[in-house]
Amino acid sequence: MAKVTFILPDDTRVEAQARPGQSLLEVAHQYDIDIEGACEGSMACSTCHLLIDPAWYDRLPAASEEEEDMLDLAFGVSETSRLGCQVVVGEELDGLVVRVPAGVNNLLLG
Ligand code: FES
Repeated sequence: MAKVTFILPDDTRVEAQARPGQSLLEVAHQYDIDIEGACEGSMACSTCHLLIDPAWYDRLPAASEEEEDMLDLAFGVSETSRLGCQVVVGEELDGLVVRVPAGVNNLLLG
């Protein structure tokens, strides 16, 4: 298991235990964290946008071009933004800290 801390928009911290192979989106849903993930991981919505703690960002495998393109459309992107459905947790990410952004652009409803 890997510990992942989600910091919610109101600064509440949720400490989650992720099974290796789960995406951050799946972990968030398991803990009732309010990230939409409208397209269920098919990189078509950007509603699973998360801000990775800068100390961790470089330790994640790089984003694919499709992910980068989709992030360009997300609300409030930062230099450490990732799509939660594309980041798969492994033991090496034990201790990861991510922030849930305050808003999303839902392209599927737009
Ligand atoms: S769930 Fe839609 S892009 Fe991640």
